[in-house]
Amino acid sequence: MRILKRILKGKSMLKTDTFFTIKEASEWATQHLSKTVTTANISYLIQYGRIKKNGDNGMAQVSKQELMNYYKSYNGNREVLWKEQLGKDLNWTLSFDQYKEAETTKHVHRLHPYKGKFIPQLVEYFLDGHTDKFKKQVYFKKGDIVLDPFAGSGTTMVQACELGIHAIGIDVSVFNAFIGNCKVTKYNLDDAQMEINRITKALKEFLSNSHTLEFEEKLLQALYVFNNKYFPVPEYKYKVQRNLINEDQYGAEKEKEFLPIFNKLVKQYNIKLRQDKADSFLDKWYSQHMRDEIHFVFDEIKKIKNADTKRITSIILSRTIRSCRATTHADLATLIEPITATYYCAKHGKVCKPLFSILKWWETYTKDTVNRLSQFDRLRTQTYQFCLTGDSRTIDIFGELEKKNLAFVELARKQKIKGIFSSPPYVGLIDYHEQHAYAYDLFGFKRKDALEIGPLHKGQSREAKQNYTQGITDVLINCKQYLVDDYDIFFVANDKYNMYPTIAENAGMRIVNQFKRPVLNRTEKDKGAYSEIIFHLKKR
Ligand SMILES: C[S@@+](CC[C@H](N)C(=O)[O-])C[C@H]1O[C@@H](n2cnc3c(N)ncnc32)[C@H](O)[C@@H]1O
Repeated sequence: MRILKRILKGKSMLKTDTFFTIKEASEWATQHLSKTVTTANISYLIQYGRIKKNGDNGMAQVSKQELMNYYKSYNGNREVLWKEQLGKDLNWTLSFDQYKEAETTKHVHRLHPYKGKFIPQLVEYFLDGHTDKFKKQVYFKKGDIVLDPFAGSGTTMVQACELGIHAIGIDVSVFNAFIGNCKVTKYNLDDAQMEINRITKALKEFLSNSHTLEFEEKLLQALYVFNNKYFPVPEYKYKVQRNLINEDQYGAEKEKEFLPIFNKLVKQYNIKLRQDKADSFLDKWYSQHMRDEIHFVFDEIKKIKNADTKRITSIILSRTIRSCRATTHADLATLIEPITATYYCAKHGKVCKPLFSILKWWETYTKDTVNRLSQFDRLRTQTYQFCLTGDSRTIDIFGELEKKNLAFVELARKQKIKGIFSSPPYVGLIDYHEQHAYAYDLFGFKRKDALEIGPLHKGQSREAKQNYTQGITDVLINCKQYLVDDYDIFFVANDKYNMYPTIAENAGMRIVNQFKRPVLNRTEKDKGAYSEIIFHLKKR
């Protein structure tokens, strides 16, 4: 490897540093970390100001010392640091840190956002036929049935489908069940593509009668010029990282400076930034123009004859409108206040704008969805998966299933369910209906918030914990009637209040093993050390 050396003149001494080209840096880092680091990964570090780019584009170089500092402060020491914080019994194999994001969000797993899903590799690990020094036994084999009584966005069902295992899901939120079922459906992709083309064409025609697109184009041009001048890439971020610029002050100043340009365009193109009322989620979080587009596309979807195509295009529309909520890029996960003007965005280090049309995301997600569905088509097996909507404490699983698939329920009654793989909600963490308020509003699905176990809005009080313990116990008691005698139950939970020993006891079960895994790559703002436990329960 050709390494360029440079002499850096410090104030009082001479220091030698090694400089790599991007390619050399990726090769060096791959060796240094014993895992693949691509040139794209290095470019990302430069782009986001973690390390500095020296030289021009033709001959960009990065400093070895800076790379080493970066990896030392974050990645390299992660295992050691996390074990110090979370205990030596942390099972690092279950971190799945060798997988890239594209793999943890592979094919249909990224069909629609959902807060609180587990990664497919974790499900695969427990469902597939391998053994290792932690997993000493195979729990599920081809043709078995696995149950997920808190199915969420359907991760267990999808992985079961890949592995030749049947799956039954249950979720109290009708929209969550809808997402899961959309993931496992086998589509007529030609029909889906034909309908998508028809709707996109109609949407473009609809838009050609308004000035929205032209307004957005002009706004983008103005922002491009402004951002290039005041937030040059990557120098600006590099300076922010090293506190050479007061980001808050500078960002606020520039945000204010851009506003008159924005207001002038709004006036010129007669853009209506807010709707007249703000009663529902759709009223509050979308401009009038967006709202009209959303309803236009939804009306076109209603014309579709094929029920599966209708469902998958509805999911695309839902994903689209989620990305189009009038929020800043930084607050996408936790909505604060609707934003109707341009703003300084700390995430992107420049002035950004809210969206004014759904077209871009609709086009992106239609392509992405068809791609993901065809990828999954190549992997899926001829097995059955379905998510029922209901309360897992009381639902008559086989009775409800009978209404969906008679042949399958006969098989299920005969062979019974082999076990459970699931991640229950945890006490006071997430409101599962509320996170998809936009979809409930649009589709008019009935909400059953009151039946959620341990929702965020009920908090983490003593009473909330007692109700939670009772709720999860009731789910286990209800579900075990449908399981084989020698069942295996795996519950993934971050049991910080130590409720699972009581839950197991009350449900007539025993915890036979606990796998404590680190949770990496959390996308939300909180990136601290965090672990969860996979409880293995069996009949007492
Ligand atoms: C942690 S999430 C599951 C996520 C899932 N493992 C995934 O990968 O998408 C828990 C789910 O339990 C559901 N839930 C809460 N209370 C329930 C109940 N009483 N019956 C059935 N499902 C319930 C919530 O709606 C939520 O989707």
